[in-house]
Amino acid sequence: MPEAVSDLRERTIFITGSGGVLGSTYVRRMLAASARVIASDLPGARADALQAQHGADPQFRFYPLDVADEDAVGGIFERILADGWQPNVVLNNAAITGELLMGAGKPFPDFADTSLADWDRTLRTNLTGAFLVARQMDRDLVGRWPVTLINVASMYALNGPHHAIYEGMPFRSFSAYSTTKAGLHGLTLWLAGYWADRGATVNTIAPGAVFNGHSEEFQRRVGELIMLKRMAQPDEIADAMLFLCSAAAGYMTGQLVNVDGGFSAW
Ligand SMILES: NC(=O)c1ccc[n+]([C@@H]2O[C@H](COP(=O)([O-])OP(=O)(O)OC[C@H]3O[C@@H](n4cnc5c(N)ncnc54)[C@H](O)[C@@H]3O)[C@@H](O)[C@H]2O)c1
Repeated sequence: MPEAVSDLRERTIFITGSGGVLGSTYVRRMLAASARVIASDLPGARADALQAQHGADPQFRFYPLDVADEDAVGGIFERILADGWQPNVVLNNAAITGELLMGAGKPFPDFADTSLADWDRTLRTNLTGAFLVARQMDRDLVGRWPVTLINVASMYALNGPHHAIYEGMPFRSFSAYSTTKAGLHGLTLWLAGYWADRGATVNTIAPGAVFNGHSEEFQRRVGELIMLKRMAQPDEIADAMLFLCSAAAGYMTGQLVNVDGGFSAW
């Protein structure tokens, strides 16, 4: 019998970019479900906070990792395996997001003023980083034991943003973000058939708009576009993520799971 979603004791989960709003929620919920959690992120305040919160838990480990750094990704599973843990779930979760840019005080230029450097930086992290992690899985994990990859996309992967809801807001959607999120599902579809004979599955999760202190006005504007009329709580995205990490999702591969309150279903 597959374990219940609330019981991930057979799961050793490696997560990139795990210090953010959703990543830190996944880590907390996975530990509560008895998984072993191998968190990673860029060094800095988010990584420090995660280690301060969970560092004493023997089920938790942290490795600094920039997913855009080919050499660092090239050695990550070798290090984890040498330390005695065998990941059987991998989450491509790291991203340059609107939240991250806003927090860093970065401007959101019009499309015409978007620099090639900013475009390249987003593609390198969100899409090439995910490719590097998936390729390393293929080299070090796939075929050795059953393993699953979850690529984290967005409600803006296969649906366009309503640009008007961002007027006057301190953040906007940006073109490279949507492009990378659509590309990630392309990677999922390509890998699903490629890995099927070697005991590996791969799916995409597309979270909707997650509440993180947004203004009443923004909540009202985005809420009108969502069937359930409100933003998600991070734990509501984690509920679906934990299912995809569990043995209960064992017969799913190549799928895109929308967790967006019906945004994509109108
Ligand atoms: N929060 C939302 O509303 C929402 C909606 C849809 C999809 N998502 C997706 O969910 C995932 C997590 O989102 P979040 O809300 O926690 O975002 P966040 O901005 O809070 O966290 C992103 C994390 O990625 C890390 N990161 C950035 N560049 C990196 C790199 N080069 N190497 C390693 N780590 C790097 C950051 O340090 C940060 O901890 C992202 O892929 C995001 O696109 C979020």
